[in-house]
Amino acid sequence: MLYVGIDLGTSSVKLLLLDTRTGVKKTVSREYPLYFPKPGWSEQNPEDWWEQTLQGLEALLDGEDRSQVAGISFGGQMHGLVILDAQDAVIRPAILWNDGRTQEECDYLNEVVGRQKLSAYTANIAFAGFTAPKLLWLQKHEPDHFARIARIMLPKDYIAYRLTGVHCTDVSDASGTLLFDVQHRCWSEEMCALCGVQKSQLATCYESYEKVGCVKPEICEQLGIPLTCTVAAGAGDNAAAAVGTGTVGDGMCNISLGTSGTIFISSARFSVDRFNALHAFAHADGSYHLMGCMLSAASCNKWWMDTILQTDAYDAEQAGITAEQLGRNAVYFLPYLMGERSPHNDPHARGTFIGMTMDTTRQDMTQAVLEGVAFALRDSLEVAKSLGICPEKTRICGGGAKSPLWKTIIANVLGLPVEVVEQEEGPSLGGAMLAAVACGEYPSVQAAAEALVRVSEVIVPEQALIDRYNGRYARFRKIYPACKPLYEAFCEPE
Ligand code: XUL
Repeated sequence: MLYVGIDLGTSSVKLLLLDTRTGVKKTVSREYPLYFPKPGWSEQNPEDWWEQTLQGLEALLDGEDRSQVAGISFGGQMHGLVILDAQDAVIRPAILWNDGRTQEECDYLNEVVGRQKLSAYTANIAFAGFTAPKLLWLQKHEPDHFARIARIMLPKDYIAYRLTGVHCTDVSDASGTLLFDVQHRCWSEEMCALCGVQKSQLATCYESYEKVGCVKPEICEQLGIPLTCTVAAGAGDNAAAAVGTGTVGDGMCNISLGTSGTIFISSARFSVDRFNALHAFAHADGSYHLMGCMLSAASCNKWWMDTILQTDAYDAEQAGITAEQLGRNAVYFLPYLMGERSPHNDPHARGTFIGMTMDTTRQDMTQAVLEGVAFALRDSLEVAKSLGICPEKTRICGGGAKSPLWKTIIANVLGLPVEVVEQEEGPSLGGAMLAAVACGEYPSVQAAAEALVRVSEVIVPEQALIDRYNGRYARFRKIYPACKPLYEAFCEPE
């Protein structure tokens, strides 16, 4: 049978066709715009997502045996606030996961309501990108919009709604709303009351691998797929990526180098760290995970290449960085182009280069960007280690993982072997696998991962390079605390 995985990302929607007998058959992607209406704000138009997803589905299924498409599911950018009125019209553009406008609301939730209460209700504290602070922001700044809300959705759930007419979400994505009781896998009454949200506005919450409905007949007709085509709830993109790289069960680790950068550790049991420095979320395989999320990862390199160097020759730009130069760069880069989430929780943080001299080269700066992202991922790994969670290796996926140099830097900065899987599509493959489980082709997500995911390469770190990077990381850690007061001062109007 054939299954479609839809990864509703920040820069594009990526679609994948999985044949469970032979593996990934085809992938296509379609881009859409991202809007920054004010510094630190980040929005997208849900209609753009839908149009590009439909066009992508047409392209994906072109020339394929459409009668064999048994199921569709998703990975999607998390935390985004999509609001619909009683006539199903989208009320305003979606406010995304990397939007930093809600500092005041986060302060209210963390300091006035209190971290302890939030953690008891949801297993998490407030971060600027989470959904609940956005609802509080809307209530204050756009009360007319707030008053019209009939349905609250997460980005991928808008696509599921358009495909099926069912208002649904899944436990992994719901975890990132701060309206969800992660431990008990249900909406939190206390948080809904605190944020002025009615239960009727929220979606029915499913496990990621559960069927939520079938594709609407008129869309089946348009796409030429069977009327029985099942739609499964799917997962937030990081949980879906974890499924797609086989990061399921207990104690497995995955790094995703997309627009955001995440380090994801699966866990059979529910746990929360004392400082809530890592997100404690439900996993798409029925268990839990801890996750650190940096807001700009592959997007730092994209910004550096596209906007600053104005080149699209990514490979050529990195080709001149030799093994000898690794761990020896005098330049450091703080990758906080959209502020930072884990572990600093600081929307005012900004991208920063430091350490240049008259002999600094363009290559040193390119290398510093790649290393800065790796150091920031290590910040989250160090939090996990401080809690006694010490992964022995990690898997990797996402656009940035296509660079052999970046993978080598990450392996050595983290001091962990990095396993590359045959199919690096992550969230879209995970989405297709969840659809296959919903259709009964596999008895569990774990069984699907065992059948479909293969490791094709392992990048083993070298002790001498780990040592050099340990020294550089110790310096990197000193830069943010020194800059923090400046970031705060600079965000005041001049
Ligand atoms: C995770 C997060 C990001 C988005 C990006 O908490 O905010 O990884 O899901 O798509």
